Amino acid sequence: MTANERIAEIIADHTGREGPLLPILHDVQTEFGHVSPEAEGQIALALNLSRAEVHGVVSFYHDFREAPDPRPCVELCRAEACQARGVEALVAAAEDAAGSRVRLATVYCLGLCSVGPSARVGERLHARLDADKLVKVIEAAR
Ligand code: FES
Repeated sequence: MTANERIAEIIADHTGREGPLLPILHDVQTEFGHVSPEAEGQIALALNLSRAEVHGVVSFYHDFREAPDPRPCVELCRAEACQARGVEALVAAAEDAAGSRVRLATVYCLGLCSVGPSARVGERLHARLDADKLVKVIEAAR
């Protein structure tokens, strides 16, 4: 699936909602790590907004990046099964370990629900995390 196709899917997921722009931008940011100028154009067209209006929102909120984040990214699953297995108790240690060097992203399910808490760095999955293991994963992220 191309980025354009995935963005079209995200837009379709929010069609009919009141105020779909922010949720769409959040989903695009989560999926791609940034909201590119191309994505802004595609979203603007779909929502019948001007590109400037979409860009204004992207640049106003600190949550959104206009270019890819060069830092290594650790995706930590905070969906229900991982929550039940204690992921929330690991978040503070993870944030400390990440500091400003590593981007800690929240994701919702990595398909390892029965062996959570789970995280992913690039293509590599990590399961059965406790605070020590997660800190090591974050420190090793390149
Ligand atoms: S809920 Fe965390 S991997 Fe599925």
